[in-house]
Amino acid sequence: MKPSVLIIDDSKTVRQQVSKILENAALSGSVFEAHDGIEGYKMMRDNHPDLILCDIQMPKMDGVEVLEAARKIKPEIPFIMISGHGDLDTAVDTMRKGAFDYISKPPDLNRLLTTVRNALDRKDLVVENKNLKKKVSKNYEMIGESHEIGIIKDMIEKVAPTDARVLITGSNGTGKELVAHWLHEKSQRASAPFIEVNCAAIPSELIESELFGHVKGAFTSAVKDRAGKFETANKGTIFLDEIGDMSLSAQAKVLRALQENKISRVGSDKDIKVDVRVLAATNKDLKKEIEEGRFREDLYHRLAVILIQVPSLNERRDDIPLLLRHFSNHIAAEQGTAPKPFSQKAIALLQGYDWTGNVRELRNVVERLIILGGKEISEEDVKLFASK
Ligand SMILES: Nc1ncnc2c1ncn2[C@@H]1O[C@H](COP(=O)(O)OP(=O)(O)OP(=O)(O)O)[C@@H](O)[C@H]1O
Ligand SMILES: [Mg+2]
Repeated sequence: MKPSVLIIDDSKTVRQQVSKILENAALSGSVFEAHDGIEGYKMMRDNHPDLILCDIQMPKMDGVEVLEAARKIKPEIPFIMISGHGDLDTAVDTMRKGAFDYISKPPDLNRLLTTVRNALDRKDLVVENKNLKKKVSKNYEMIGESHEIGIIKDMIEKVAPTDARVLITGSNGTGKELVAHWLHEKSQRASAPFIEVNCAAIPSELIESELFGHVKGAFTSAVKDRAGKFETANKGTIFLDEIGDMSLSAQAKVLRALQENKISRVGSDKDIKVDVRVLAATNKDLKKEIEEGRFREDLYHRLAVILIQVPSLNERRDDIPLLLRHFSNHIAAEQGTAPKPFSQKAIALLQGYDWTGNVRELRNVVERLIILGGKEISEEDVKLFASK
C-alpha cells in the first residue's frame, strides 16, 4: 500500500509544490494538506499519516510545537521539517527534538525525494522493531481469566506507568517474575534496561559489589573498575528477586540506595546518582522475617509502596484448563510436534490436584504428559504419569 503523507504549511504554493513532486514520483498514496499547525496536529492525530512534512514558521502553532506534540502521541511518524530563510538554526535543532530531517524552501526535487524515501524506510524499520518487541512479550504471556488473576492484571495496568516501588509476593512458581516483567514492559521505561538480580544466588560478601560496582583495587580480585547492576539499570528497572534471602548487611546498603537515589561503588566515596525503578519479589513472609529479626522493617516499607500478592494456583483453579491448553501448545511448538488435547476427565482430574509448585509445576506436568501420554491426554495418562 502506498504511504499517506501530511503536508503542514501555511503557504499554499509550497503545499502544492511538495504534493506535486510526491505525486509525480508516485511516492504517496494519499496527500493531506493542512494550512496551519493546529489543523495539522488534528489531522496527524485523526488520520495517522505515514509521514509528515511540516513548515517551521506558521501562525498559531509553529512547526516545532507540532513536532513536540506529535512525538508525545505518535512517536513513530517521521517528520521532515520545511525550513524557510532565517530559520535554519531552528531546523537543525528540530533534529535533536526528533525530526527525521529538514529541507529548505523552495523544495529541491531530488533532495525532497531522497529524504522522503529515507524517512519512509526508517518508519518501516521502527514498526518492525515494535512488532519484534511484542513477540518478546509473548514469552511472558500471563494466562488466566479468573477473578484472582484479573485483579493482578488490573493492578499491573494501574501501577506500571508510575515509578512506584512494588513488592511482589507469592509462593513458588506463582508467576512473580512474570509480573515484574510486565510492570517493566508496560512502563515508560520499557525501552531502557530491565536488570534482574537474584539476591539468593549471590554470596553476601559479593552482593555489594554486584549491586553497586567497585573500583580497581577495592579488594583483591577487583582488577579494574566495574559498574554494578544499579548503574546498568539506569533509566530502567532493577528487579531484586528473592529479596527475603538478602543478608542484613546488604539490606542496609540497599536501603541507603533507595533513600538517597544514589550509590557509590565499593572502594570509592564518590556518589553516583541513579534513576532506577525498583521492583522486588519474595516467596517469604516478610512480616514474619521482620519479627524474627531477619529483615529490616525500614527496608520493607521502602520497597512495599505497592504490594502485589500473586495468588496460588489452588486459589484460581478456574484457570487450569486454559493453562493446560497454553502449555500444551507452547511445548508442542518448542518440540516441533502437534499439540495434544486433554480429555474432559483428564482436565477435571488435574483441576482437583494440590498444586504446591503452582504454575511451574503445572507446566512440568504438561511436559511430562505430552512426552509420555497418548494422542489425546486421557484420565489414565494423568493417573499414570502425573500422579502425586
Ligand atoms: N499466569 C501465567 N501464565 C502463563 N505462564 C505462567 C503464569 N504464571 C507463571 N507462569 C510460568 O510459570 C513459570 C514460573 O513463573 P515465575 O518464574 O514467574 O514464578 P515465580 O513466582 O517467580 O517463582 P519462584 O518463587 O520459584 O521464583 C514460568 O515459566 C512462567 O512463565
Ligand atoms: Mg522467581
